Amino acid sequence: AQNRKESLFILMNFAKDHFQHLLWEEEEGKSIGLTYFRERGFTDESIKDFELGYSVEAWDHLLKTAEAKGYKRDLLEEAGLVVTKEGGKVYDRFRARVMFPIHNISGKVVAFGARMLGKDKKQPKYLNSPETELYNKSRVLYGLFQAKQEIRKEDRVYLVEGYTDVISMHQTGIKNVVSSSGTALTADQIKLIKRYTDNVTVIFDGDAAGIRASIRGIDMLLEGGLNVRAVALPDGEDPDSYARSLGATAFSHYIDEESQDIIRFKTKLFLKEASDDPVKRAALIKDIVRTITKIDDPVKRTVYLKECSDLLGISEQALVAEQNKLLIQKS
Ligand code: UTP
Ligand code: MN
Ligand code: MN
Ligand code: MN
Ligand code: MN
Repeated sequence: AQNRKESLFILMNFAKDHFQHLLWEEEEGKSIGLTYFRERGFTDESIKDFELGYSVEAWDHLLKTAEAKGYKRDLLEEAGLVVTKEGGKVYDRFRARVMFPIHNISGKVVAFGARMLGKDKKQPKYLNSPETELYNKSRVLYGLFQAKQEIRKEDRVYLVEGYTDVISMHQTGIKNVVSSSGTALTADQIKLIKRYTDNVTVIFDGDAAGIRASIRGIDMLLEGGLNVRAVALPDGEDPDSYARSLGATAFSHYIDEESQDIIRFKTKLFLKEASDDPVKRAALIKDIVRTITKIDDPVKRTVYLKECSDLLGISEQALVAEQNKLLIQKS
């Protein structure tokens, strides 16, 4: 099994080199893939740092190239690089897409994310490798390999939604940034973060629906014992688009100035939504207390309850009572 795993690593590295070669050396890759990356503002240095590539528009280009090098079909299939259709026809999984290799913590490629270029509404925008012996998506954070030294140095990690957000922020000089690739954070990913730092700043895309959907994931971070800050971007922006529109200096400034403690962030967000409906208000307040209860440290909880009491205009006793109710349920 160890040999098999080693073979898979070698094959994934071969595929990464292959996609890079197509991007930098071949006509189709240069005119379509490299142009795409450059037009969306990635520098050649970023493209190289993240080992981005291109897969050509053909059914079996990787399959043929790999087989000519002696890689077996079943290994290619196990790696998730080719797919066998009914009737036995084998074809490349990734075709006519720009390629984002996903690295493990030591920098070896374990999977790919692949972005479409056209506007074919029937296809997913990003196609990702399936889970394999090398790739367990709940245990990988995109960009961690490129970020880990800087995370230690800064003693903080920025958490963003997507591949391109990581690359653009890295390019503006904020290199302590990782992405959970569009899904909710897992306990394993949080453990991974904790190897490097206890401090997380979550950067939310600027749409209200997105923030509401992802704010639940914050409770996980607090349960993991992390100190969490948050910042929301203006409506319609993600870190990639906003870093590009503001430029490096102003973007860093925005993140520094606007980020705030997560409990304060959540409380203010809820105050905006709460209106005057007492039932709704009570539900939102309980939700915030529930989040505070995720924090293990009783001193921290007390500080937060005091602050929320001020922000919400509710007595501290009422909040403490709600907290105690939840703590009893938990034990
Ligand atoms: P987004 O839709 O925000 O994409 O998804 P993006 O990162 O901003 O990419 P661009 O700017 O349109 O190129 C955020 C992340 O969710 C995952 C990817 O990891 C993506 O980076 N995702 C999204 C998928 O895996 N599949 C999809 O079809 C869409
Ligand atoms: Mn290389
Ligand atoms: Mn999004
Ligand atoms: Mn996005
Ligand atoms: Mn984007």
